[in-house]
Amino acid sequence: MANRPSAPSDPPEPWITPEMRAEIDAWIRLYPEGRQRSAILPALYIIQRHYGYCPPQAQAELAEILDLTPAEVGEVVTFYTMLHQEPPGEYHIQVCTNVPCMVRGASRCVERLKERLGVEEGQTTPDGRFTLDHAECLGSCATAPMAMVTERSTGRIRYFEELDSPEDVDRFLDLLAAGRGFTHLERWTPDGDPDHTGRPAGPYRNGGMEPRFLLARVNLPDSHRLARYEADGGYATARRVLQEMTPAQVVDQVKASGIRGRGGAGFPTGVKWGFIPKDVYPRYLVVNADEGEPGTFKDRILMEYDPHQLIEGIIISAYAIQAEQAFIYIRGEYYFAYERLVQAVQEAREKGYLGQGLFGTDVDLEIVVHRGAGSYECGEETALLSSLEGYRGQPRLKPPFPAVEGLYGKPTIVNNVESIANVTHVMRHGVDWYRQFGTEQSPGMRIFCLSGNVKRPGVYELPHGVPLRELIESYGGGLQQEGTAIKAVVPGGLSMKLLTPDQLDTPLDFESVQAAGSLLGSAGVIVVDDRHSMVEVARRTIHFYRHESCGKCTPCREGTAWLAKILDRIAAGQGRTQDLELMAWIAANVTGKSFCPFGDAAVWGLQSNLAKYRDEFIRWIQETNPAAEGPGIPIRPIYRPDVHQGSGLQEVQFEPRGEPILLHDQVIDLLEE
Ligand code: FES
Repeated sequence: MANRPSAPSDPPEPWITPEMRAEIDAWIRLYPEGRQRSAILPALYIIQRHYGYCPPQAQAELAEILDLTPAEVGEVVTFYTMLHQEPPGEYHIQVCTNVPCMVRGASRCVERLKERLGVEEGQTTPDGRFTLDHAECLGSCATAPMAMVTERSTGRIRYFEELDSPEDVDRFLDLLAAGRGFTHLERWTPDGDPDHTGRPAGPYRNGGMEPRFLLARVNLPDSHRLARYEADGGYATARRVLQEMTPAQVVDQVKASGIRGRGGAGFPTGVKWGFIPKDVYPRYLVVNADEGEPGTFKDRILMEYDPHQLIEGIIISAYAIQAEQAFIYIRGEYYFAYERLVQAVQEAREKGYLGQGLFGTDVDLEIVVHRGAGSYECGEETALLSSLEGYRGQPRLKPPFPAVEGLYGKPTIVNNVESIANVTHVMRHGVDWYRQFGTEQSPGMRIFCLSGNVKRPGVYELPHGVPLRELIESYGGGLQQEGTAIKAVVPGGLSMKLLTPDQLDTPLDFESVQAAGSLLGSAGVIVVDDRHSMVEVARRTIHFYRHESCGKCTPCREGTAWLAKILDRIAAGQGRTQDLELMAWIAANVTGKSFCPFGDAAVWGLQSNLAKYRDEFIRWIQETNPAAEGPGIPIRPIYRPDVHQGSGLQEVQFEPRGEPILLHDQVIDLLEE
């Protein structure tokens, strides 16, 4: 990367100072005995805060502390995007360019920053103050376009949102340049919140609609503080449950409520709890707060503005599965939510709601808030557990499922933030109350994340089954710009298949969205209007998945890379109509053939895009490349009859010479046409 500040010229000895060592030791004590490797990410953050990056010498010293080899530390550093191998500028500006931000003008924001800073993406200004990069979805899609800024000397992160115009970008840059960008902790928008109370801005309101439960408190002053939560009746439910109910009764009640997981898969929460084997201890509860699915930002709001609601849900859920240790694995970019959670856990512990003998019972519980370091893959539950154990965030083979053999090989329940928050309300109000909302198979309220080209993007807590049209038109205020029309809608986070304008009456519940050919997923609803090219939507989507593929399995790693190359070529005006078949073929060889479900997720959007907007792709190719022949992809077959005879596979090299890869005859024919 050009223009990076250099490493310290006067090497310290040791690189991990006594103060840093004390901090690292404190982290190690938070994990079970002998599991010090789990402290690797917190330790690397400590090192990075000190040096601005993770120097190899400090990595080697950390390896000794954690009883690892330097290579084992190095493989972690190189896996996570938020860990640096060379120092960025004092302010590392990362503009989100993923689809929801893209359709609201992220590229204008990037261009203005380039102009003002005089650097290209990936570069640092000569004075070492600013580094400019792009980022994948940062969970702030309703306030797009936006940028995340990391202050190198403190490791703190702030979001700068609603950067709609060049003037907005100028104002935020001026704040940073004047050293005032981090003077208060909250997010920043051009209109700001003048008193800096940190209360969420308009997008987090619910259009004035009632009832609300999960989001009921997020706009209240001090909604994140314990005293306020208790004044609103907080922790009374946990107290009653622990004092009056057995764990089995709690499991039964959650089963009867029919809560389905809110992270994406929709698996019934109570049923999952029931998979825990009898008499095997210790058990762990892990809250999946690694909210990385583009178009999804509900868990962030819950954690930032009502963290005690989540903690109360954790107390009840951990009691139900008889776990005495819970972890909240939160994505690294959610720094503000992380700080809020740490503060809330501390408050709860001081009040005796965590620790030993909760509410005068013999129940114990500790919660550790563990911060990830930039990896979409860690949203997959087994990859998350690998990461929590201190490894690269790569998935594990299932079965055994985590409920049987999870964290540290012990029974582990992994539940999403919103799922756990729902548990609090089911136990507070009862099963009948919960089931009065939603549908028979998708009971309860749902937090929909509405983003893209609508007037009022935001989080909306509505019953399952609300029609997509109502969400967009009544709550979202309709399309962002007069005279435009809806072209496509993603109903459940970027990985889900696209819906077309004639499907707007689809009820937003698990079964109806599935019947419409997609999935409700994380309920991240992204609206794309007809000003945008579906070729560009496809290209940006696939680039995200190529970037985030963990690299463990070939179909996902290679398939997304090939698709990205082909889409780049089409976007550059060198596409050929046979590329559509080629992409469909590659995508078909990723779905169902990858190690974890993220391979499917990577190509579902593209598959539906190619099927539903095929005419637009053909038009684009014919207009940008009238000969529709293009340069093709030069390949050079390598004849190895003894290796692949009869399989239909040949080893080929792309020109200029690359690594030999296996391709099927049919694909070679397409490439050579
Ligand atoms: Fe940009 Fe989500 S924050 S796409």
